[in-house]
Amino acid sequence: MRILISLLYGLAVSRLVASTPADIPHVFQSSPFTRQHLSSALVQRELGSVVSSKTTIFGPDDERYKNATEPWNTVASPRIQVVIQPDEEVDVSTIVQYCNDNSLPFLARNRAHGGASTLNSFNGVQIDLSPFSNISITPSGKSAWFGGGVYDGQAVAYLWERGYVTPTGACDCVSMMGPGLGGGHGRLEGLYGMISDNILQLNVVLGNGTAITVNSTSHADLFWAMKGAGHNFGIVTSFESKIYPRGPETWHYHNYVWGGEKLEVLFEALNALHGNGSTPVDMAQNWGSFFMNSTLDAHNPLIQWSFAYRGSVEQAAPLLAPFNAIPSLSDEFGDLPYPGIAATQGLDTDSIVCQHGNRIISATAGLQVYNVTAERQIFESFRRRIQSHPQLAAGGVIEHDGYSTAAVTAYDSADSAYPFRSDHHLMLINIALAPNNTDSELERNAWEWAAEVRDLWNAGQPGRKAHAYVNYANGMESLEEKYGHEIWRLKRLRALKERYDPDNRFRFYNPIVQP
Ligand SMILES: Cc1cc2nc3c(=O)[nH]c(=O)nc-3n(C[C@H](O)[C@H](O)[C@H](O)COP(=O)(O)OP(=O)(O)OC[C@H]3O[C@@H](n4cnc5c(N)ncnc54)[C@H](O)[C@@H]3O)c2cc1C
Ligand SMILES: *[C@@H]1O[C@H](CO)[C@@H](O)[C@H](O)[C@H]1NC(C)=O
Ligand SMILES: *[C@@H]1O[C@H](CO)[C@@H](O)[C@H](O)[C@H]1NC(C)=O
Ligand SMILES: *[C@@H]1O[C@H](CO)[C@@H](O)[C@H](O)[C@H]1NC(C)=O
Ligand SMILES: *[C@@H]1O[C@H](CO)[C@@H](O)[C@H](O)[C@H]1NC(C)=O
Ligand SMILES: *[C@@H]1O[C@H](CO)[C@@H](O)[C@H](O)[C@H]1NC(C)=O
Ligand SMILES: *[C@@H]1O[C@H](CO)[C@@H](O)[C@H](O)[C@H]1NC(C)=O
Ligand SMILES: *[C@@H]1O[C@H](CO)[C@@H](O)[C@H](O)[C@H]1NC(C)=O
Ligand SMILES: *[C@@H]1O[C@H](CO)[C@@H](O)[C@H](O)[C@H]1NC(C)=O
Repeated sequence: MRILISLLYGLAVSRLVASTPADIPHVFQSSPFTRQHLSSALVQRELGSVVSSKTTIFGPDDERYKNATEPWNTVASPRIQVVIQPDEEVDVSTIVQYCNDNSLPFLARNRAHGGASTLNSFNGVQIDLSPFSNISITPSGKSAWFGGGVYDGQAVAYLWERGYVTPTGACDCVSMMGPGLGGGHGRLEGLYGMISDNILQLNVVLGNGTAITVNSTSHADLFWAMKGAGHNFGIVTSFESKIYPRGPETWHYHNYVWGGEKLEVLFEALNALHGNGSTPVDMAQNWGSFFMNSTLDAHNPLIQWSFAYRGSVEQAAPLLAPFNAIPSLSDEFGDLPYPGIAATQGLDTDSIVCQHGNRIISATAGLQVYNVTAERQIFESFRRRIQSHPQLAAGGVIEHDGYSTAAVTAYDSADSAYPFRSDHHLMLINIALAPNNTDSELERNAWEWAAEVRDLWNAGQPGRKAHAYVNYANGMESLEEKYGHEIWRLKRLRALKERYDPDNRFRFYNPIVQP
């Protein structure tokens, strides 16, 4: 038995299982047989007749495989032997039971942007949620049902055309539920909260295949956990979320590129705009970065910033005046309906940011205010790398997210598993290497740079603990950094794991119970 277990599971045996080595793990008790090599033809033969006829099952030799499995970031590359695209929600229960009966690990996959290196321990069956793309507005006009595979650009366009909006991520290509299970930050959070704050109910398939409805009266304990730590507890096949009248007909955007000498005046203006968590709610979101463009400047990083304002250029003018006053290398602006805003910020499905198959080294931090000294240190360390490691510097983007946060902080932080409501800025360094990079020295240098930048951000807020928003985490952070430093929080999450996923089937995306 031992040998079989180690052959099949390798390093993936969960700590829950490993902590009771004397027992035969429960996960194997109900298994009539185990398999080392999985063939899609075999799964098709065995499972095909018990799932809906439109469910598709294929393996690496199929032409659909690359598109269905290619990760956004190859640093997080789960090994997928078989892809199953369920046709109906009920099929997910059948698939999960089949996987369990055959001791096959399974992984829900949505838009494949998940970048946590913990995903590398996965080797098994991908349950592809992309067929679950239905959206339907309820008769009240106050909520809508979304398929578990709905993505941001799709939801934004669908609702806008019908007069509504709902909180999504800022990037069109990412799913709603991937981010939503860990919070979900976007342009409407200042008004309405994060994606997770707006969920009314979730249809969930648990690790044992049982399908349940999770809401404030049904499995309320699990509802709490799924709003912040949801990836650990089940597969969401559909969910109901609040929607809102769409508001102003157009939004205003303004993008700038500045030279590094403007850094201090820029960050002081940003801190004034955000007022340590009191950003005007219509100043919905801005993101900016330190980046390299050798055509514009071969020796120095540059600063780009993009603002999205919910309203007209006239309404935005007083808030943007301090930025217009900083002489820029270039700028562009305009007013257009909300669904077009993502493209102006380089965040639509055709943008470079949305393409898959990159190799990106990353690290993250959560801040309340920008520390201008720390930002200067980070900028200068980038500049030094242009000299010492030009190849690395070329792919470095040091990202700063600034949201309006009023509705996020209006919720009591104890009311859901999302732990970091006091963070007003999400920080992320992404260093893109060549997708086929085999230079391990280069990669080591990239990790070093990423850690240095994260540490500078954190050193710039003495007295605050390090936070790693679970959806930006690289996977190597501590549990406290990802799920909160309060002792009661992790205790509660662990107890819920025992109750709802005792076999730790959901252990691949920043797992609470680590394998
Ligand atoms: C280009 C880009 C832009 C981003 N923009 C934002 C942003 O604006 N706001 C923000 O908050 N985050 C953002 N992120 C981070 C994002 O939240 C995470 O990368 C997230 O994991 C992506 O979800 P996905 O569905 O695309 O990826 P996946 O890799 O498919 O999913 C990530 C994990 O979530 C689990 N999961 C997904 N859907 C379900 C479901 N229905 N049921 C159960 N489990 C599920 C999967 O098991 C998986 O392990 C961005 C990331 C990228 C790469
Ligand atoms: C797969 O194809 C669909 C439709 O063309 C596209 O939206 C999606 O981004 C593709 N996925 C990947 C991983 O390339
Ligand atoms: C999507 O909607 C169609 C039409 O209403 C329905 O037939 C189908 O079952 C729905 N799919 C899912 C996965 O709910
Ligand atoms: C929660 O789900 C149950 C089961 O579907 C349902 O009966 C109940 O009305 C739901 N409660 C809320 C508040 O939506
Ligand atoms: C920001 O506000 C928080 C309270 O929300 C406070 O604890 C913190 O000291 C403030 N930070 C600065 C730099 O003013
Ligand atoms: C660099 O800037 C130039 C001039 O604005 C632009 O044409 C080019 O596309 C940029 N290069 C990259 C890689 O972004
Ligand atoms: C990596 O791929 C690129 C093309 O995508 C190619 O030009 C380059 O030579 C490759 N590098 C290595 C080390 O294989
Ligand atoms: C800003 O960062 C510097 C460098 O880490 C640090 O010494 C200083 O205390 C920070 N300032 C504030 C107000 O936190
Ligand atoms: C599946 O797990 C849930 C939660 O632990 C439990 O309530 C349910 O009875 C289990 N279902 C089966 C078939 O064992």
